[in-house]
Amino acid sequence: PQEREFQKDRIRRLLASRNAVLVAHYYVDADIQDLAEETGGCVSDSLEMARFGRDHAADTLVVSGVRFMGETAKILSPEKRILMPDLDATCSLDLGCDPVAFAAFRARHPDRTVVVYANTSAAVKAQADWMVTSSIGLDIVSELHRQGKKILWAPDRHLGSYIQRETGADMVLWQGSCTVHDEFKGIELDLMRKEHPGALVLVHPESPAAVVAQADVVGSTSRLLAAVTESPATTFIVATDQGLLHKMRLAAPDKTFIAAPTAGESATCKSCAHCPWMAMNSLKGVADALEFGTNEVHLDPALGRQAKVCIDRMLDFAA
Ligand code: 13P
Ligand code: SF4
Repeated sequence: PQEREFQKDRIRRLLASRNAVLVAHYYVDADIQDLAEETGGCVSDSLEMARFGRDHAADTLVVSGVRFMGETAKILSPEKRILMPDLDATCSLDLGCDPVAFAAFRARHPDRTVVVYANTSAAVKAQADWMVTSSIGLDIVSELHRQGKKILWAPDRHLGSYIQRETGADMVLWQGSCTVHDEFKGIELDLMRKEHPGALVLVHPESPAAVVAQADVVGSTSRLLAAVTESPATTFIVATDQGLLHKMRLAAPDKTFIAAPTAGESATCKSCAHCPWMAMNSLKGVADALEFGTNEVHLDPALGRQAKVCIDRMLDFAA
């Protein structure tokens, strides 16, 4: 605890002296989330992180999350210095969507509008017509479907098939998945619901269809958090990374939150849903990045400009 307080003080001091702001995702260390809030930064889902970083006047953004979040910040604000606590913090969806293989996939479907999830590299985004996050993917695909467009979707197959079921759009899907959400299990969730009748089931759409089918609310991390205060329910079963429970407990301290069951369940860990890459974000990593300028995100400017087109489209649609 003493070491944590020491690092927190370092971060407070350095944020002020370097004209920097901390932009954190809901899945990272609870102390980093609290510091971001306390120091005028933001804790949010990936759409809001992108918007906040773009609009903030600070010269330096410390993006605490995973690689694609830092890269998106750099694409949107090439003039800002983007630092991350650990540049090796990536995402299974990003890793599983190689830009060259993606180009070949696209070439097989030249008649389709290319929609990619935010959880991809800049080199994949540069090949897309639209980028979406989980909070806005449904609305954007719904609009494209209304316009009669056929969709090529990548990389998350669960989010893609959820959007396909909801909108009825003609979609071909890249077969990627999130290693964290893929672990939630439908049969075990069904049993858990029977043990807790009256509990509201909150599910992130990166989860398998058998889990999404049992949800009372399906949505981005921000949407799931909002449901906690909007709903009169007092017990919630939560199928997403357990990092989000921190904010849920702060928002509704008298309510009960139960982690949805995963395959990795054990005697000490009922739900092991925590992203290993989000877990690489440490207080020391934030402080060191600020003090020494390490872990700066660099991006080829031409690639960044190309990747920006699909992100701007989403942000304009969301505005
Ligand atoms: P959100 O946009 O819902 O925060 O999702 C990002 C993510 O990586 C979920 O696993
Ligand atoms: Fe990627 Fe899944 Fe981690 Fe989100 S939780 S960053 S989708 S691996």
